[in-house]
Amino acid sequence: MTAICIANNKGGVGKTTTVVNLAAGLARLGHSVLVVDADGQSNATYALTGSVHPTPSLYDLLMDTAKFDQALWTTNEEHIWLIPGDGRLQNIDVELAAKPGREWRLTRALNGQSFDYILIDTPPSLGVVTQNALVAAQHVIVPVALSEFSLIGMDKLLSTIDELSDQLDIDDLDLLGIVVTFYEENRLGRETFGVLEKKFEGQLFETHIPKHNKIEEAHRRNESVLTFAPTSPGGLAYAELAREVKKRATSTGEAYSRRRVARG
Ligand SMILES: Nc1ncnc2c1ncn2[C@@H]1O[C@H](COP(=O)(O)OP(=O)(O)O)[C@@H](O)[C@H]1O
Ligand SMILES: [Mg+2]
Repeated sequence: MTAICIANNKGGVGKTTTVVNLAAGLARLGHSVLVVDADGQSNATYALTGSVHPTPSLYDLLMDTAKFDQALWTTNEEHIWLIPGDGRLQNIDVELAAKPGREWRLTRALNGQSFDYILIDTPPSLGVVTQNALVAAQHVIVPVALSEFSLIGMDKLLSTIDELSDQLDIDDLDLLGIVVTFYEENRLGRETFGVLEKKFEGQLFETHIPKHNKIEEAHRRNESVLTFAPTSPGGLAYAELAREVKKRATSTGEAYSRRRVARG
């Protein structure tokens, strides 16, 4: 089991798209995948099921009003299961404020589960739900849209993840990689990619995700691009990204088991 959180506090950079299609890529490599939709906008839930508010959802898991199996749904894709998101997640920060272990609730809910990969989609914020996602994951993937790329924003995001790791007492969260999305093959695209490669040497995935309408169309049809258009540039890129992710984060074959690290 390997748990990966997809995070970037900017919206529209391809987080949800990457979660859905990376899940499909890993499923095609023979793995069981659990997608956790931690975004109140529930775009991943919609993309994978066509349904907007299945309940019980992650909200109920975090609030302790449902058990894991009650919040577990099948999806339109084989070998992919889902803990759905729903709109109530948007106000959960307030509701969890006075509850004990509020950043550890997702971790607790996942303990004992035996999917090969757990992929967690996050909202464009660093609130309690995203904190639950970062605590529950061993790795983070950060998607960066080449079209609206900002180095300053990236630095801030990476240092915020470091700060959060410190505050939350998690010392084993690592940056699995930065994946470039909305890539366009032109001079500007190549130049910007080159700058990123230099700055984040070794951290950038070799695969970049092209900007392509089939990706968006698949999303609207509640299918992964690997199902909808497997040989399109987007389908091929996400299949390749799955292979790279598998290489960097091998599934351990053991059940999910995470405990709070005691600080000396
Ligand atoms: N590579 C791509 N090419 C074209 N459209 C894309 C691509 N990646 C994402 N999109 C579309 O862009 C929008 C934002 O992507 P999304 O994954 O929802 O971003 P986020 O989750 O970071 O807010 C969605 O409508 C999605 O279908
Ligand atoms: Mg999203």
